[in-house]
Amino acid sequence: MARTPPDGTLPKATVQETISIFSAVLIPTLAKGAIIRRPKVVGMSERLGLDRRAVRRLQKLSETYGDGPLLLRTPYKTMALVLNPDHVHRVLEETPEPFATDERTKRSALAHFEPEVALISRGGERAERRRFNEAVLDMGHAVHCMADRFLPVVDQEAQALLKNVQERGGMLDWDRFIETWFRIVRRVVLGDSARDDHELTTLLGDLRADANWGFARPKRKQLKERFFERLHSHLGRAEPGSLAALMANTRSNEKTAPANQVPQWLFAFDPAGMATFRALGLLAAHRDHIERARAEIASDKATLHPELNFLRACVLESLRLWPTSPMILRESTEPTHWAAGAMPAGTSILVFAPYFHRDDRHLDYADRFSPELWLEPRDAKDWPLVPFSGGSGICPGRHLVMLLTSTLLARLIEHRDVRLEPPHRLDASQPMPALLDNYTLRFRLGEARD
Ligand code: HEM
Repeated sequence: MARTPPDGTLPKATVQETISIFSAVLIPTLAKGAIIRRPKVVGMSERLGLDRRAVRRLQKLSETYGDGPLLLRTPYKTMALVLNPDHVHRVLEETPEPFATDERTKRSALAHFEPEVALISRGGERAERRRFNEAVLDMGHAVHCMADRFLPVVDQEAQALLKNVQERGGMLDWDRFIETWFRIVRRVVLGDSARDDHELTTLLGDLRADANWGFARPKRKQLKERFFERLHSHLGRAEPGSLAALMANTRSNEKTAPANQVPQWLFAFDPAGMATFRALGLLAAHRDHIERARAEIASDKATLHPELNFLRACVLESLRLWPTSPMILRESTEPTHWAAGAMPAGTSILVFAPYFHRDDRHLDYADRFSPELWLEPRDAKDWPLVPFSGGSGICPGRHLVMLLTSTLLARLIEHRDVRLEPPHRLDASQPMPALLDNYTLRFRLGEARD
């Protein structure tokens, strides 16, 4: 039974419960790296099953406190945990007022490398920056308006990768994959001239590593200046066929801060690579699904820009099973009222996506690879599956992500036999693991198939 305090505020976790939430949920999630992953910690989390422990901890709390939201007793800010599916929809639908995206932990992290990005802006600035992002990322369309320029980039880089893998004995590992992926990303965002600018990605990686520590690590002004200098030199070319060119032709004003939106794009394509590699693992382990994907590729061959809906669904499933943005954070801008009581203004609100995505008390597919889930439209009446968030703060890059990732997967699987190495790394007859360490995934790519 929920314990509602006599003062009418939401139920509060005890000090002991708060400590256990920190140790089972927040600390392990942050230790993996919120802004850039720490591969060793990801590997350890998979081995120790820490992500399953986090979901179990929240399930237990919801049995004690019912619907919540549940307030946590932290010394430096009020936090609320969302435990009820309808509350997830409410928080996401009522963004940015009264639930602002620029929650303070997020603000202190992202300010290291993108202080004026939409996600940590408010009011008129946020509205303008969001509009700019939606326009350049062509959020309203499943197939980006520049697909005819982007898809050949994916094809070329995939062919180069396959050739390289074949020459080196047929083994595809993370390092080789991610190198290709970042080449695609730099060409799409900044143009072909940026293809081999690994330094730009490295500089951003260093800034993101600082951002993992939020306010606990001082900002490195010189590093940021070096990164932005390099970024500006790419953006200045506005190379035809890139998002940079589209940016140059998109209306902006004194509030937009166009260049400050770009680190978010470059940074967020990193988890898209992780999701793609894991989706390849899912397909390699589920032979009937990989055949279905190949059939889709073959039947869409005649289409100019195939949507590849089944492969998109596979990427979405990879993100449901292993969300790359597990913590969706909001901050309440005014007092709000819930069935269980009042939430004060200035509360940090946490939607922990894995708790909803993997809730085996309510979802028979919780631990199964079920891409078909994503083939039907979903809305706010459905169970919240929110890899890209939802409501007015939904990721404006999601269709572009789906377009590029599904096309890359298509090129990798269509003519190759793809096997996990070792084969038992992911077993379709078993529940899908709570975490899949993408850094240690390896595939043997067989000879070309017809
Ligand atoms: C697998 C890849 C990605 C995932 C899972 C993802 C997920 C998300 C999520 C959950 C949010 C909301 C964050 C929050 O409310 O705190 C978000 C916001 C955002 N994403 Fe993505 N994203 C991905 C890739 C991308 C890419 C590649 C771009 C750009 C090319 C992008 C652009 C943005 C922007 C601009 C926002 C901020 C939106 C706002 O302020 O309203 N994302 N993304």
